[in-house]
Amino acid sequence: MSIIQLKNLKKHFGNQEVLHDINLEVNKSEVVVLMGPSGSGKSTLLRCLTFLEEPTAGAIKIGEHTLAAGEKLTRQRKNKIRDLRKSTGFVFQQFNLFPHKTAIENVMEAPMIVKGMKQDEARELAQSLLDKVGLGERCNHYPSQLSGGQKQRVAIARALAMKPTVMLYDEPTSALDPELVREVLQVMKELAKEGMTMVVVTHEMRFAKDVADRVVFMDGGYIVEQGRPEEIFNQPKEDRTKRFLAQVIGE
Ligand SMILES: Nc1ncnc2c1ncn2[C@@H]1O[C@H](COP(=O)(O)OP(=O)(O)OP(=O)(O)O)[C@@H](O)[C@H]1O
Ligand SMILES: [Mg+2]
Repeated sequence: MSIIQLKNLKKHFGNQEVLHDINLEVNKSEVVVLMGPSGSGKSTLLRCLTFLEEPTAGAIKIGEHTLAAGEKLTRQRKNKIRDLRKSTGFVFQQFNLFPHKTAIENVMEAPMIVKGMKQDEARELAQSLLDKVGLGERCNHYPSQLSGGQKQRVAIARALAMKPTVMLYDEPTSALDPELVREVLQVMKELAKEGMTMVVVTHEMRFAKDVADRVVFMDGGYIVEQGRPEEIFNQPKEDRTKRFLAQVIGE
């Protein structure tokens, strides 16, 4: 059963079409890794999925929320976009934590503001999520007092606090020192094991091999090929995939 559906998705920036008629379905509990060269449209795809960018054409479904591109921005549509967004957790390369709030306050914020959760309940939820990502002891630290890996784990806990149907990650480990990458990937791996549906933009081959059910390779705004990690990595069919993999492995 698919939980995410992209139908004939297109995105233009001015005259430039950066996503060309993308069709993609993701099943419940599936982990999809999106790979591809810089500028291939990976971030734009994730951003369109949550309407952080308005798609030019096509339709998007996440869980029970369906939205078509290009409709007038009525209040009803704004509500629909908000509901769709509430059902997704988005983790960015640059963490995007509130610098003046502690770890636990960062995690409590959205449930209280967006869902109207009581402070005590939000604190309890946030504490349990910080425990889950291994940061229970650091809950009163400010972002400036945390390492990059710890900040990213707080960001994951914060996304989880909204009890999302799907988690989206845009290069969650690319801003991290190599020794901190693993702790973040480990948290993501555990979430995957628990059955979380995830779309992950990453070049971490090891993670893709160990955790992904499917690798989707993009280039130039197209999905060039997709398949199980071992198929894509060991027997890529398309030249563009081969070239990209040779480059990533060579790094
Ligand atoms: N806000 C914007 N305005 C104009 N063009 C944009 C904008 N955002 C992205 N683009 C263009 O869209 C294309 C796809 O960009 P996108 O950021 O989605 O690529 P990407 O695959 O995520 O690349 P990277 O690996 O470098 O993050 C690029 O040509 C980029 O220049
Ligand atoms: Mg990107």
